[in-house]
Amino acid sequence: MKDLFLLDHNITYLNHGSYGACPSVVFENYQNWQRKLEKGPVQFMTKILWENLKISRDVLGEFIGCDGEDLLLFPNPTTAVNNIIENLNLCEGDEVLMTQHEYGALVRAWSRSSMKNKFSVVQQFIDFPFNSKNDFINQFLAGITKNTKVIFISQITSQTGLIFPVKEICNYAHQKGIITIIDGAHVPGHIDLDLIELDCDYYTGACHKWMCAPKGSSFLFVKKSLQAHLQPQIISWGEEGEDPGPSQFLMDFQWQGTKDMSAFLSIPSAINFLEDNDWREKRKISKNLILEVSDNLTDIFETDSLFLHEDWIGQMVSHPLPSNITIDLKERLWEDFMIEVPIFEWNKHKYIRVSAHFYNQANDMESLVNALKSIYLK
Ligand SMILES: Cc1ncc(COP(=O)(O)O)c(C=O)c1O
Repeated sequence: MKDLFLLDHNITYLNHGSYGACPSVVFENYQNWQRKLEKGPVQFMTKILWENLKISRDVLGEFIGCDGEDLLLFPNPTTAVNNIIENLNLCEGDEVLMTQHEYGALVRAWSRSSMKNKFSVVQQFIDFPFNSKNDFINQFLAGITKNTKVIFISQITSQTGLIFPVKEICNYAHQKGIITIIDGAHVPGHIDLDLIELDCDYYTGACHKWMCAPKGSSFLFVKKSLQAHLQPQIISWGEEGEDPGPSQFLMDFQWQGTKDMSAFLSIPSAINFLEDNDWREKRKISKNLILEVSDNLTDIFETDSLFLHEDWIGQMVSHPLPSNITIDLKERLWEDFMIEVPIFEWNKHKYIRVSAHFYNQANDMESLVNALKSIYLK
């Protein structure tokens, strides 16, 4: 399926997790929106845009199991989460509970606000590999105190590529009156997502990762009962602007000054691409590639995998590297083999993270394994 993407065929692309590749047909749709805008900017910005943003929200809502009116379109999860933090009015004594696996930029966002507003960020250390879902849940929930006001947790983690049981955590948090914010940057188009069933308070996901939409397309779901008083970071025209609503929530957020929203408008095209290509079946092929490469990495590096059962991972695996491996391995794989794969240090350990999407085949994984063997098993 590589021919359906714009990727350079000379590159062995194993990093969909950082920046998802966009299929040609979706990218064309994106550029068509940009052309339409330039042909008649006023008609576009005052009418066409709003009709089609609604379509994007509704189609996306159907894909992820929620009402389109509960979705805000944002360029990325970073912006989405930053827009929530200050709205929570956290103050001295309050605690935000998260795991040690959260995405670094968002930990920074929470920490920056905590310094200003004097609340605490608690990164609960959870020993892994986790023996069972309950083992994980119990270790995480042990971090709750009477001061815990918010739980912020990834459904699929960035550095460790693990799928966390967020449904159970949301259920527990609701009983305790704790707000739940789920970071699902890696989730839509990767594993099943049904937001009504999940029943969290806030959920952000990226469309530009596993859904293969153009870069700069993401969403924030906000439970209806929390929408009324939410304030955007950027104050613009709100109800005095062109946005026909229907809610103050949408009017306050969807216009944040003039910008190109073509990536948002291409979301239905990305969803069509996934459905036309039977993504639910294809992801099983990608997962098998990931399970195989995980075994190979275990053999080559003689390090234990991060998961004990395949339910913990999807189309992405992080594997621990021995301490003598240096980070310049990433450059070496790129310079000598044109393999794009992240190698990084996290919590004092080094990892390689391999992603597989539609366009990856067994020969991509073989290229990586052969390259690593040629470097390390001489
Ligand atoms: C778990 C997680 N959350 C949030 C983000 C932030 O995504 P973005 O840079 O698109 O805002 C990422 C990016 O990779 C991520 O992996």
